[in-house]
Amino acid sequence: MTIIALINQKGGCGKSTTAVHFTYWLATKKNKRVLLVDADAQQSSSEWLSGMEVAVPYKVVQTPDDLLEQIPELAGQYSLVIVDGPASLAEATRAILFRADLAIVPVQPTGVDLRSASDAMRLIRQAQSVRGGSPDAAVFLSRAVKGTKLKDEAIALLSKTPEVSLLKTVIHQKQAIADTSGQSATVWDFPSARAKESVQEYERLFKEILSML
Ligand SMILES: Nc1ncnc2c1ncn2[C@@H]1O[C@H](COP(=O)(O)OP(=O)(O)OP(=O)(O)O)[C@@H](O)[C@H]1O
Ligand SMILES: [Mg+2]
Repeated sequence: MTIIALINQKGGCGKSTTAVHFTYWLATKKNKRVLLVDADAQQSSSEWLSGMEVAVPYKVVQTPDDLLEQIPELAGQYSLVIVDGPASLAEATRAILFRADLAIVPVQPTGVDLRSASDAMRLIRQAQSVRGGSPDAAVFLSRAVKGTKLKDEAIALLSKTPEVSLLKTVIHQKQAIADTSGQSATVWDFPSARAKESVQEYERLFKEILSML
């Protein structure tokens, strides 16, 4: 019944990677009835899940009209729906925001990405204004490189945006995460210590997101 959307029109910030890991974690570690809705024209998250050994449900829904109509129907059949939002397309993102209970915005802590995050904030504010406050929204720092100064600047900037909260968990840039999609895997499949760090970061992020519901 709960709809959580990963949105940000800025490409490459980690929407699909987060959506796949979140859906996989909910389905296999938390035994939830969860569906991934792939709203991205590249269909990367549904192809990723279709290649996995464990069956995790997904559905491709792409046009703004279909997203508006089908998300609530699908939400009636699952306890959680995770929507992987598209890059670029404001209308599809708007449709998703009109249906989501919670919008999560991954933001890479670079100057360009921080500036374009304001486009996502704007769409969130518009949806909240039309819907009387929904969806709740939060940002997290995605693909952050350890020890860089920009990360601190990003935290300072994002903390000032009142309509979205900033999640405490930061997902760092890791080769183990970059390797997952090509192998139709998740970080839980990799034995290395570095992959385990990403496991811990993702689990912390997902618990923090669920605590917002
Ligand atoms: N924490 C991370 N560490 C290393 N690589 C990452 C991380 N998160 C994502 N990536 C890689 O960055 C690229 C972009 O990630 P992803 O496809 O999830 O972004 P996206 O926001 O869905 O992009 P698009 O808007 O194009 O759909 C992918 O190659 C992915 O493997
Ligand atoms: Mg994507």
